[in-house]
Amino acid sequence: MSVRYIDQVPEGFYNGKKVLMRVDFNVPIDDNGNITDDVRIRRVLKSIHYLLDENATIVIATHMGRPKGKVVAEYSLEPVARRLSRLLKKEVQFLDDCIGEKVEKVISAAAPRQVIMLENLRYYAGETENDSEFAKALVAGIDVYVNNAFATAHRAHASVVGVCGNVPVCLGGFLMREELDYFARALKNPLRPLTAIIGGSKVSSKLHAIKNLLNSVDRIIVGGAMAFTFLRAQGFGLGKSMIELDMVDQAREIFEQAMAQGVRFYLPVDCVAAPRIAPDVETRLVPVQEIPKDWMGLDIGPATATLFNEVIQDSKTIVWNGPMGVFELPIFSRGTLGMVHNVASTYALTIVGGGDTDVAVHKAGEVDRISYISTGGGAFLELMEGKVLPAVKALENCSNGSLGDY
Ligand code: 3PG
Repeated sequence: MSVRYIDQVPEGFYNGKKVLMRVDFNVPIDDNGNITDDVRIRRVLKSIHYLLDENATIVIATHMGRPKGKVVAEYSLEPVARRLSRLLKKEVQFLDDCIGEKVEKVISAAAPRQVIMLENLRYYAGETENDSEFAKALVAGIDVYVNNAFATAHRAHASVVGVCGNVPVCLGGFLMREELDYFARALKNPLRPLTAIIGGSKVSSKLHAIKNLLNSVDRIIVGGAMAFTFLRAQGFGLGKSMIELDMVDQAREIFEQAMAQGVRFYLPVDCVAAPRIAPDVETRLVPVQEIPKDWMGLDIGPATATLFNEVIQDSKTIVWNGPMGVFELPIFSRGTLGMVHNVASTYALTIVGGGDTDVAVHKAGEVDRISYISTGGGAFLELMEGKVLPAVKALENCSNGSLGDY
């Protein structure tokens, strides 16, 4: 089954219709209430413009943070509505609720080409509980539901699962299509060699992803603190580097499975070591065998960067999730930022996902030279784990049927 997308409808289909578009505007906001990264907003503008051109009334719905069913002022979407308005160069009417009579009245009276933004869906517990009454209330008076919230697609919540079946027409947005298509190009039908780069601090958080990737990739590169758990499985001492001792056996099994399946598995051979994580601490470049007793590895070293780069340059498809070290601190950022430049300079299809990796790409100034940067964190990881995303499944089930009288 496949998803029907917003441009797969007859001409004039949206004329005068009320369209609810679920987006993921869960964007970072600083202590002064300023949005520090609006990429998730920018990435849905194309779908909004498309529907405006088609003469629809657009109602935008999203969650922000985890307010747990309560009104928490710091998670209000008012600043997000203002940013959307600025980006669209168009008025966005912000409503201080997302369901109920007042909201329905405004939607029903709204004119074509008007944009309305609802308050945080997670102010109601019914959203995360996938409550059917909440889902019905959300689409009251709505003709067409568009799911453009890939980054929330791993959640079985009311606005991405429960609404399906309670609204006459369900469709996927352009961003949802891009995300799913790029992922499929990379992992379902890739040009080979296909290399996965996995980083970050914990093996436990990426265990399922790595196991699943072994079935499709030709090479796996592991960096970040999680590499030390794999290195411990091979018997290295590693000073006081961060190691998940309860994961060492699993790491060994993964390594053995990779060997058995013919997947080449690359680990760091040297690192930037320091006695602790601090911005001004003394550092040393050492082979991983020689990390001093009271020191820890906090970034990959130059020999590792060269080794990994050889693998990368010889790849035709690269999927990357997770940094190579503590790149938030300049003294431990060289490995991750260097990796971004190396990935960007290949001729491969390059796909990057996960919040930290996305930040690293921006920091390195290489956004334009990466083929695709996913807006998904958890959703991207679950796709790598081979899971079916509940919201995508719901969309496939409900967007496939006929458009009926619509
Ligand atoms: C994200 O930022 O990954 C999504 O918005 C999902 O947020 P959640 O983890 O709070 O469900």
